[in-house]
Amino acid sequence: NQNILTDSLGRSHTYLRISLTERCNLRCTYCMPADGIPLRPKEHLMTADEILTIAKEFVSIGVTKIRLTGGEPMVRKDFPLILEKLAALPVELGITTNGVLAERFLPLLKENNVTTITISIDSLHKNKFEKITRRNEFEKVWNTIQLFQKKGFNVKLNIVLIKNFNEDEIIDFINLTKNQNLTIRFIEFMPFDGNQWNMDKLVTQQEILDKVNYSFPLQLKRLTDSPNDTSRNYKIDGYKGSFAIISSVTNPFCDTCNRIRLTADGKLKNCLFSDNEFSLLKPLRAQESIFPIIQSALQHKFASRGGMDTPDKLENPELHSKNRSMISIGG
Ligand code: GTP
Ligand code: 5AD
Ligand code: SF4
Repeated sequence: NQNILTDSLGRSHTYLRISLTERCNLRCTYCMPADGIPLRPKEHLMTADEILTIAKEFVSIGVTKIRLTGGEPMVRKDFPLILEKLAALPVELGITTNGVLAERFLPLLKENNVTTITISIDSLHKNKFEKITRRNEFEKVWNTIQLFQKKGFNVKLNIVLIKNFNEDEIIDFINLTKNQNLTIRFIEFMPFDGNQWNMDKLVTQQEILDKVNYSFPLQLKRLTDSPNDTSRNYKIDGYKGSFAIISSVTNPFCDTCNRIRLTADGKLKNCLFSDNEFSLLKPLRAQESIFPIIQSALQHKFASRGGMDTPDKLENPELHSKNRSMISIGG
């Protein structure tokens, strides 16, 4: 029944993002509080079998795309098993990773026809990378980006821009696309619990475009986006790769949202910004149907940004702290 995945505004949710774990081997400041988050006891987390069961149910009602997120999805011990099982489903399978462990899983991804990998890297300078991630893994991540390209993967890079921190690297990142078939994705910094967000730290879509137009006069080309893209896509004329802007704050794309999220503890989030959560794990363990819960989650979905649709709501820290930290949503 296709209707289960359609919300009250007629948006059809065909893209499921599954967070495999809340743990991560980096400590990015924009993603988690300085002293981390209290981890849930293991018995509250979905097992590999439970993930597969839920994923299959979603596929049976029309999900065509699944993305694995975390924390860092590759730190989970049974990551290879989960990946293999999900890859056998009739879906497009994607993964968003920090790249630290990705090299060892390259053959696994290849064998399972995962052809695109999205890697987060917020600076091209080792010292700044360490400042933001609070770990010393820059070379590893950089070399992994090169390796995956060499082995024929489509590589997308996610860069969260923060004012007076890495906005001076926008052009350097775009310059990477001159000779490399990379997709560089600049992301507007978004508010979540404990990530010290405020409007002053934001680098807006408009600021990014102004910088690009200044450095590449008359060379900026707008590309056609796919219908449900979060990113607005561009390229510099003649360059091999492309770049994109994900403007959740200044120019949201909620009217075409097709995404629903499953947290590592088995709860559905109908929006990245919504604190309203619907447990699927509970009914699953009680051997009850999860379909009414899915339907209910979608019927409660707000039109935009989980209800944080006005500037004053967006800037209200009380609302941010009702939501999770990004590390336990997965982006
Ligand atoms: P593809 O479209 O498959 O390439 O992936 P994606 O852009 O959906 O996923 P990715 O994990 O790379 O996320 C990139 C950035 O977009 C992250 O900062 C996410 O938080 C953000 N993002 C992803 N989905 C949504 C969404 O539904 N709403 C909003 N506001 N931001 C999102
Ligand atoms: N704002 C915007 N993007 C974020 N990400 C993590 N935290 C934030 C935030 N506060 C991004 C990561 C990763 C993706 C899944 O989400 O950089 O690439
Ligand atoms: Fe979808 Fe919420 Fe993101 Fe808007 S903010 S695109 S509704 S997940």
